[in-house]
Amino acid sequence: MRRLQLFEFNEAAWLPGCLRALITDYLVCLCRVTRAFHQRLPLLAEAIRHAPRQDRIIDLCSGTGGAWHHLAARLDRMFSHRLKVVLTDLYPNASYQEASSDPHRLKFHPRPIDATNPEDQLEGLQTLFNAFHQFPPAQASLVLKRAVDQNQPIAIMEMLQRRWAMLPLIVLTPLMVLVLTPFIRPFRWNRLLLTYLLPLAPVMISWDSLVSWLRCYRPEELLKMAQRLDAPHYRWEAGSYWYRGAPVTYLVGYPLTSEAPLSAAGQAGAVAAPAAPRAGR
Ligand SMILES: C[S@@+](CC[C@H](N)C(=O)[O-])C[C@H]1O[C@@H](n2cnc3c(N)ncnc32)[C@H](O)[C@@H]1O
Repeated sequence: MRRLQLFEFNEAAWLPGCLRALITDYLVCLCRVTRAFHQRLPLLAEAIRHAPRQDRIIDLCSGTGGAWHHLAARLDRMFSHRLKVVLTDLYPNASYQEASSDPHRLKFHPRPIDATNPEDQLEGLQTLFNAFHQFPPAQASLVLKRAVDQNQPIAIMEMLQRRWAMLPLIVLTPLMVLVLTPFIRPFRWNRLLLTYLLPLAPVMISWDSLVSWLRCYRPEELLKMAQRLDAPHYRWEAGSYWYRGAPVTYLVGYPLTSEAPLSAAGQAGAVAAPAAPRAGR
């Protein structure tokens, strides 16, 4: 399947925040139901251990918080200190902080942060969940390059795989929206109206899911992009797997700092082979 760069509603500057939240709240719910990213928690923990600053995660393109509502507490158990997650977006919304499931740990940044802007200094593990696919290759490379230039680890995770095996999930998206809507938090009246009375939410979410699928990068494409950065002091791992019916594609890279074990330091310059796509559990 060739990668296609098409338009998505959630990234449109003209989309009112209340409609964007209908899409991103659905993604939060999907992350909660599938726990799709939990399988790579040890890899995320490893990336954090190689961060110059290990107590903070900077999430880019956060929407209403995505996977972090459920991931943060689980990841915390792997450390003796408490992790803080700064959630950033190009279109931040003050109301997201009020709806935060863990306001002390999850902080929504009030200013717009463009994931492709190399000027922003972002200290801590940089993460992008369900968002990297939206950038065309040149911009996507900028996201990786900024992390490398600032010597920070980065984790890209998508609940997507650009393979025909994902087609049934794309076809079923409108139905999934109808079924999951009563379980989406926070409760919003407009969600019910715009789902069951005037089905704008299912239309936007289904379109965005279709386009995300067609735009998603494959593990080998992600690794190639990382290799082109010419960062021999970085260790990269990319792969894809299925978990509880959800497809995942990921790329994680971190600098091999002086704290890295000698054996790992010996691998400097090597790019980890893509993990073989794993069969679902
Ligand atoms: C598909 S949503 C993903 C939200 C969240 N990460 C999740 O998993 O639920 C993509 C988000 O990226 C944001 N976005 C689009 N372009 C961006 C950019 N250049 N920089 C930062 N955020 C951007 C949109 O506002 C939207 O909230």
